[in-house]
Amino acid sequence: MKNVLVIGSTGQIGSELTMKIRREIPGSTVVAGYIPGAEPKGELLESGPAEVADVRNATQLADIVSRYRIDTVYNLAALLSAVAERKPLMAWDIQMNGLLNILEVAREKGCAVFTPSSIGSFGPETPRVNTPQDTIQRPRSMYGVTKVATELLSDYYFHKYGVDTRAVRFPGLISNVTLPGGGTTDYAVEIYYAAVKGEEFVCPIAPGTYMDMMYMPDALKAAVDLMQADPSRLIHRNAFNVAAMSFEPETLAAEIRRHIPSLRVRYEVDPVRQAIANSWPDKMDDSCARAEWDWCPSYDLPAMTVDMIAALKKRFDTE
Ligand code: SER
Repeated sequence: MKNVLVIGSTGQIGSELTMKIRREIPGSTVVAGYIPGAEPKGELLESGPAEVADVRNATQLADIVSRYRIDTVYNLAALLSAVAERKPLMAWDIQMNGLLNILEVAREKGCAVFTPSSIGSFGPETPRVNTPQDTIQRPRSMYGVTKVATELLSDYYFHKYGVDTRAVRFPGLISNVTLPGGGTTDYAVEIYYAAVKGEEFVCPIAPGTYMDMMYMPDALKAAVDLMQADPSRLIHRNAFNVAAMSFEPETLAAEIRRHIPSLRVRYEVDPVRQAIANSWPDKMDDSCARAEWDWCPSYDLPAMTVDMIAALKKRFDTE
């Protein structure tokens, strides 16, 4: 992994992943790919090259891959689950036609490709607790349909053409840098912002709804470590369950109240997000990731909460 293209570099994962690889992988060039209207700014713009990289434009992708001799593509362009329910055709276009463009470029030019899957790739018939690596995947959301298809198409390109595709199934990701947009798990980020700002939090997810979650530093570590893993150890490829913590809204609120006792939470359940959440696992089994590439998260809920609150307090200058 030397010359890297991050597609979606200004999004929730991309903004931090681009900077992590630039900082931590010596001699790497990381091209920050973006779409017009989501231009990189500040450190992201100043610390390396940036190019318009729309997954729907195959010629543009091929041109960037050639010019920068890209060997690894992180394909982070996606509409998250709640938005994808409002715009299913656009979600298909970005997630599937976009992926096909990337895989074709990768096949022609010999790049490795990471296109994340998600807890959203599971559905109501999937075992909810300790969800196995290999199990039933019959999602009901468009987001989930595209994620299962992403896994299959990525494996297809590996088996048929030898394209080095690898990915993880991310849980809900919690970070203090860039906000997610339109996901079912976004509440677990927004509640921290409300707590630090002293605002009441209106929770769209019902009490008792468990979902897997992960702090962003662990998610970034997973994305980098998997692409650097020894391929001879990989039995699976697309995509590995990775887990770090599982909780429902009350447990998260209680943990935040240990630091900010004044946090107020009111439940106003969003039926679209709740239906999606109800169809997702409570907790995945990530033993294959642990066995095949030594996956191990660093943050549990208490450690993440300390870090999130400190970072947001610093940002909003409320200390
Ligand atoms: N965080 C995503 C969502 O909620 C799931 O991968 O849509």
